[in-house]
Amino acid sequence: AQDLRTRILNVNKMTAKYYYYQLRTENGRQAMEYLKNRCLSDETIRSFGLGYSNKYSNDLYLYLKKQGVSDELLRESGLMNVDERNGMYDKFWNRVIFPIMDVNNRVIGFGGRVMGDGKPKYLNSPETAVFDKSRNLYGLNVARTARKKSMLVCEGYMDVISMHQAGFKNSVASLGTALTTQHASLLKRYTDEVILTYDSDGAGIKAALRAIPMLKAAGISTRVLHMNPYKDPDEFIKTLGPEAFQERMDQAENSFLFEISILERDFDMHDPEGKTGFYQAVARKLMEFDQELERENYIQAVAERYQISFDSLRKMVNREAMRG
Ligand code: UTP
Ligand code: MN
Ligand code: MN
Ligand code: MN
Ligand code: MN
Repeated sequence: AQDLRTRILNVNKMTAKYYYYQLRTENGRQAMEYLKNRCLSDETIRSFGLGYSNKYSNDLYLYLKKQGVSDELLRESGLMNVDERNGMYDKFWNRVIFPIMDVNNRVIGFGGRVMGDGKPKYLNSPETAVFDKSRNLYGLNVARTARKKSMLVCEGYMDVISMHQAGFKNSVASLGTALTTQHASLLKRYTDEVILTYDSDGAGIKAALRAIPMLKAAGISTRVLHMNPYKDPDEFIKTLGPEAFQERMDQAENSFLFEISILERDFDMHDPEGKTGFYQAVARKLMEFDQELERENYIQAVAERYQISFDSLRKMVNREAMRG
């Protein structure tokens, strides 16, 4: 007998094909329109294997049973909801489907989006014997072959897909979960530089602040793309186009400068005391750099950004260092 992992991968593959086919039937017309409205081309829809799970919630179940899949395996696959009254039925029913591939292009799970404003907006496969979302990045199967200097890391399915469609094939998403240390080491296999393209809202900023030290610990240097006034890469690209996005990439700010620009919000910069407090906080943060030259480069960058004197800031850093 095949092992559980192989059997789940096999069920996932059948399911992905089924959803892919459904999107192209009469049942899938609304879903296809939804994807077109979101400006995805036929080629993009095809290459990401997008699909549709129709609103007859036990169709997938019946289909997989006909293929000889056991109830037990279906439970292990995470594809079904089980309830007393209805038995097993498709967890993702009536959603647009995003198959999630590992780096070897095997389908390890699915995401499903409602086509309207329903909640939850996205459903994802639960952890299974083949799906561990803290160890996989959406889009990495393609991004790893892009041969670019850096990787673009974003939040969501649609962001990855829009960026790829716009030619930025070096983009991946951590899919609703915070970036993990495992994600960081996975990225390190392919790149030394990450450009964070998280949403510009509070949650996205928080996620960026958590990701930066993790990436740094993995030996990756990070820059942060300024998305304002748009919410995420998908919206940005849809509104301003690929050239403008490339410009923002080129201007993406060093993660340290990003961190202190967020830190700045805690201080009243119109007040001398507030300002001093801020520079002290920056000086403490500058102590993170234990190589003298690197630290001096950052002191220089901060001094320039805030129009203060290099020497005063350096003295402040030294004072903080002596305090320990
Ligand atoms: P966002 O709320 O930023 O959604 O969540 P989005 O990607 O911009 O979605 P669109 O553009 O409205 O379609 C970012 C990511 O967080 C995960 C998904 O992976 C999503 O892509 N998420 C979000 C969930 O898993 N469940 C949710 O209910 C919402
Ligand atoms: Mn978001
Ligand atoms: Mn700004
Ligand atoms: Mn978003
Ligand atoms: Mn979005």
